[in-house]
Amino acid sequence: MFMMTTNNALHILITGGAGFIGSNFIRHTLEIRPDCHIVNLDALTYAGNISNLNNLQEDHQERHTFVHGNICDPQLVKNLFEKYSFKGIIHFAAESHVDRSITGPQAFTETNVNGTCTLLQESLAYWNKQGNPADFLFHHVSTDEVYGSLGPEGAFTEESPYDPSSPYSASKAASDHFVRAYNRTYGLPTLITNCSNNYGPYQFPEKLIPLIIGNIQEKKPLPIYGDGNNIRDWLYVIDHCDALLRVFEKGSPGETYNIGGGAERSNMQIVKQLCALLDRKLNRSPGSNESLITFVKDRPGHDFRYAIDATKIANELDWKPQYSFEEALGNTVDWYLTNSQWVESVRSGEYRKWLELNYEKR
Ligand code: NAD
Ligand code: TYD
Repeated sequence: MFMMTTNNALHILITGGAGFIGSNFIRHTLEIRPDCHIVNLDALTYAGNISNLNNLQEDHQERHTFVHGNICDPQLVKNLFEKYSFKGIIHFAAESHVDRSITGPQAFTETNVNGTCTLLQESLAYWNKQGNPADFLFHHVSTDEVYGSLGPEGAFTEESPYDPSSPYSASKAASDHFVRAYNRTYGLPTLITNCSNNYGPYQFPEKLIPLIIGNIQEKKPLPIYGDGNNIRDWLYVIDHCDALLRVFEKGSPGETYNIGGGAERSNMQIVKQLCALLDRKLNRSPGSNESLITFVKDRPGHDFRYAIDATKIANELDWKPQYSFEEALGNTVDWYLTNSQWVESVRSGEYRKWLELNYEKR
């Protein structure tokens, strides 16, 4: 059991904290854990945008230290451990998009497998030295995609066999295996969470929901892979962040927890719901956005269905999602409509100019 104390600042290493889930997690944790100091190590790939954390309030900024660097750099990671004596690491950094993994798998083995192994090795070296074995946790943030594809029935439990389909899910599966191996072989206190599809603010607009919102705004075609009947189990990112903090603080070392939203929808249902929502919000005639739907060639190895059985985290850690899908999808659409400049800047890479002015490259 790992509890935050209020006596002195707890230094936590977050990797990938400039990405979608990591930046939401940092905002959430700084808000509700005033004793925590976060070191955010991020290489700022195309998906990482440090301006996601620009508008932190002042005392939160003071408890957030950004380090521009790569998780595959052992000396950098070692130096950070020496400097901050972390109580734990929550490891988000990854190449995260399935379609990109199909066209360029190497980056996925490099970051998701080698990068995770570098963090494990440096964590182990630190943990062996720091004297109190119970005083450290390595929390690996993973995906339900490691379990492969479901048919129309059933849901993934923590016991489901690994059966990844894409280079992305294969690389995440490999990293999960390494995390478990470091626990079993060396006793490193680890946690793994396998989560379903997230949506919400700051998601890079290559993923289904933000891509469809943007294309509807611009009246561009809405690409549906295959027949649109593939199903995902959707979770609002804020609910995911809440679950992650719960696992990090209360989870049992060595354990795995599945996290899911209990909101299964086919891709077609999602796209039609977004079309209808945006007909209203953009004052377009009912049904006009649906005319943008365009069926395109299916993704190779496209998993049919994901669904999470979240009984373990509900029973053992008393977690369940707080947001309904309808409410959170509405929040997400509103966020993208009011932050169209953010979308523009990440699509064009404009924020990188700001980055070059403000941060030195390592
Ligand atoms: P993201 O692509 O939005 O962000 C990834 C972040 O990692 C970026 O900031 C990027 O700059 C950083 N990064 C990439 N390579 C790096 C490297 N070598 N060194 C340091 N930083 C690096 O991803 P996300 O959607 O926020 O996902 C975060 C984690 O959650 C990933 O591990 C992903 O597998 C997992 N996950 C995501 C979802 C989802 O629906 N998005 C669901 C379940 C699990
Ligand atoms: P995505 O957001 O890429 O997440 P993942 O592949 O990790 O589940 O895709 C979600 C679903 O939407 C998936 O079944 C593929 C489908 N999809 C489309 O139909 N069209 C698109 O343009 C995208 C990006 C995804």
